[in-house]
Amino acid sequence: MPPSLSVLALGFLLTLALGQTFHFQENLFLQFLVLDKMPSPEKFQPVPSILKKIVQDREAEAAAGVAQDLCYVKELGVRGNMLRLLADRGFFLYSKKLSQDNFCLQKLLYFNLSAISREEQLTMARLGLDLGPNSYYNLGPDLEVSLSVAREPHVSGRSFPKPGRRMALQSVPRPQGALHFNLLDMAQDWNNNPQKNLGLFLEILVREDRGSGVHFQLEDTCARLRRSLHASLLVVTLNPAQCHLSSRKRRAASPAASPACRSLCHRHQLFINFRDLGWHKWIIAPRGFMANYCHGECPFSLTTSLNSSSYAFMQALMRAVDPQVPQAVCIPTKLSPISMLYQDNNDNVILRHYEDMVVDECGCG
Ligand SMILES: *[C@@H]1O[C@H](CO)[C@@H](O)[C@H](O)[C@H]1NC(C)=O
Ligand SMILES: *[C@@H]1O[C@H](CO)[C@@H](O)[C@H](O)[C@H]1NC(C)=O
Repeated sequence: MPPSLSVLALGFLLTLALGQTFHFQENLFLQFLVLDKMPSPEKFQPVPSILKKIVQDREAEAAAGVAQDLCYVKELGVRGNMLRLLADRGFFLYSKKLSQDNFCLQKLLYFNLSAISREEQLTMARLGLDLGPNSYYNLGPDLEVSLSVAREPHVSGRSFPKPGRRMALQSVPRPQGALHFNLLDMAQDWNNNPQKNLGLFLEILVREDRGSGVHFQLEDTCARLRRSLHASLLVVTLNPAQCHLSSRKRRAASPAASPACRSLCHRHQLFINFRDLGWHKWIIAPRGFMANYCHGECPFSLTTSLNSSSYAFMQALMRAVDPQVPQAVCIPTKLSPISMLYQDNNDNVILRHYEDMVVDECGCG
């Protein structure tokens, strides 16, 4: 990510916040977010609390000035700088078997990994299966979840995928939250050979022999399961080119400038509220952030005390000789990152860290 792009993106946010909208800058900002158009999800996918916690932890650490390794996700214990919660693009299967045997539900799970770029290394892929509130099962029969590799290419409604190698078989007496399955090896294989990604074959079976009394309950349980089942694949990737230790300490609010200095170059507080921009429709967290901006004069006499570059100092010196040389301007000299959780146009939830989004210090340059 060229730093200039992020500075431009921040500039775009500022122009928006200050009431000026430029479409070409909006495009630039989307490019920076690696989006082809402004997301407009119809509804938010359920977001596991771990993702929200990661955003909150990062924000708290930045505010406290703790050095952050933006390429390590300590909450998950893996290296990575981008987290995606991929939506399941599969479909339910209905076979004659469902009314016989012990079958409760069959579904093809499919996760499209095409958004992962070549530069990214997969470090984690975890399937989450949420079977709904556990009160559903208190009186129901014990269930068994079976996960297999899908064997044949499938087209919804036209061909029927078949279960291949079984990867997991887990009994679920009382589901407590989501069930998790490690799919790293498989996802790496899919990522390298997309044609191998035929999805996963999920079956939910009933463990007990059932008498006629249980039968009624079972239909009920299975119908509810079908409605509440939610599958997603949490994928963490690492792009080593984007990794460096961010030890930049975020500054607390600066004391109010005295009246005489108010016009001099300094950092101004600016909170960007995503709701004001209409972006709360696709950004899940945070609700906004303290972006700040730099503004003020850079007179020659003060160039040395305003965190100026040597270059700005020379420029000021030249200007004293030749008034055609422009005055040094008030610009950010220190920036820090923020983390953002948002939903893209494919219903995938993305957690990313964006460098240089918060102005910490200003100077003349
Ligand atoms: C995966 O997603 C990409 C980009 O959205 C799309 O072009 C492609 O057709 C999808 N592949 C499948 C198999 O759905
Ligand atoms: C210049 O940097 C110092 C410390 O690095 C900081 O305390 C001060 O606020 C900065 N000045 C401005 C104008 O931002």
